[in-house]
Amino acid sequence: MKTSLAVVVLAAGAGTRMKSALPKVLHPLAGWPMIRHVLDNVGKLRPARVVGVIAPGSKAVAQAFSPHPIVNQAKPLGTGHAAKAALGVLKGHVGPVLVVFGDAPLVTAGSMKRLVAACVRKKASVGVLGFRARDPSPYGRLVVDSDGGLEKIVESRDCSDAERRIDLCNSGVMCIDGARLAGLLGGLRNANAKREFYLTDVVALARMDGLRAIAVEGDEEEFQGINSRVELAAAEGALQRRLRAAAFEAGVSMAAPDTVWLSADTRLSADVSIGPNVRIGPGVVIAPGVEIKAFCDIEGARIGRGAIIGPFARIRPGSRVGENAHIGNFVELKATIVGQGAKANHLAYLGDADIGRGSNIGAGAIFVNYDGFGKYRSSVGAHAFIGSNSSVVAPLRIGRGANVAAGSVITEDVPADAVAFGRERQVTKEGRATALRAKLRVRAAAAKRGKK
Ligand code: UD1
Ligand code: MG
Repeated sequence: MKTSLAVVVLAAGAGTRMKSALPKVLHPLAGWPMIRHVLDNVGKLRPARVVGVIAPGSKAVAQAFSPHPIVNQAKPLGTGHAAKAALGVLKGHVGPVLVVFGDAPLVTAGSMKRLVAACVRKKASVGVLGFRARDPSPYGRLVVDSDGGLEKIVESRDCSDAERRIDLCNSGVMCIDGARLAGLLGGLRNANAKREFYLTDVVALARMDGLRAIAVEGDEEEFQGINSRVELAAAEGALQRRLRAAAFEAGVSMAAPDTVWLSADTRLSADVSIGPNVRIGPGVVIAPGVEIKAFCDIEGARIGRGAIIGPFARIRPGSRVGENAHIGNFVELKATIVGQGAKANHLAYLGDADIGRGSNIGAGAIFVNYDGFGKYRSSVGAHAFIGSNSSVVAPLRIGRGANVAAGSVITEDVPADAVAFGRERQVTKEGRATALRAKLRVRAAAAKRGKK
């Protein structure tokens, strides 16, 4: 595309139908706030500029737009009124202006490109992405004339009976010739059911000026907007299907794909295998050949080549699992670096720890990283052995090749190749069990008599 493109993202609506204290565009989808999906999709068009229109005082929404400039829409008086708020920032822009909604995160860059290209090709001053809706009732209807041009958009509440029967609906994505934008927006009036300035009215205004307007059709699943919690859940489902399809394409196996939940930024490699009921939160990178068994939860972590995770493992942010390491059932990692080939196979908590290559962490080991006030790190050298049911009380260092006896509470550093016991020595009394049994029998009988 030779002409430069500007994008306006509308996100100042009240979002009342969500019934939430959180602004609609910040509700999470596949681990990202909704608006980040929109900005990511828009970014793929390489626009010359992107500007967000937000409600005043919404700091979190402003931050979500960073580094793009934002403007405030003083009052939510409609989508047309919101677009107008961006005019100042767009001054001097030549070329098409794409207006997108912050509540339509599924619209792909491909569809947006198709719309912009169609407008250029057909010399249309206004273009709209439309779709055939199974239930058109929540949407604005596209009224198309006999020669394929777009005549007007009528909002649901303002439809005549005949218009209400139209199933071609407005996605909200609109491409408007930058040279005409200010003039068209200036002509908007709020004489409608909602007393709002509708952006959709620019179609009829353009036609009145003798300009061309077109509709470009696409898929309902992609274009549906999010106004309620039900629609949010539907969009999540659609996004997950896309992410899984991309994972399969990249060479990932999933035995029960419908039960695997991925994040928008999950990076999976070839020959990764994911079992049933796995959740991968934001910030996860998984190297080739990794096996993730059933019921794992992984977030903010890197998993090295050939590692085996789970079943039932939880890997929390800041963790790194080395090549061919094993993290087994009911093992939790938090900000822990596990070296190549190290193993923690059963029932352990490894918090704020560095585990050397080839080390073995026994069942039930706990890295005690918190004393109620501060968090501390501990380290274990290569090829060390931490016996089962030991506590490692941070901060401390356990040297290379050291061996910690099972059941120890380790509170001091252990040098390399040392054996450390942190527990009482065992006492064994030969034959004493017989006498003990007799004594306990008498006691139990006495207690029974006492009860009667
Ligand atoms: C809008 C369209 C409708 C379309 C539907 C697609 C209009 C008038 N209607 O209806 O034709 O079928 O989307 O989902 O455009 N916003 C502002 N300021 C405002 C009002 C809205 O920034 O004053 C923003 C919202 O944050 C949202 C977007 O514009 O991101 C759409 O607003 P919303 O109220 O959801 O419009 P719909 O009723 O869904
Ligand atoms: Mg909407």
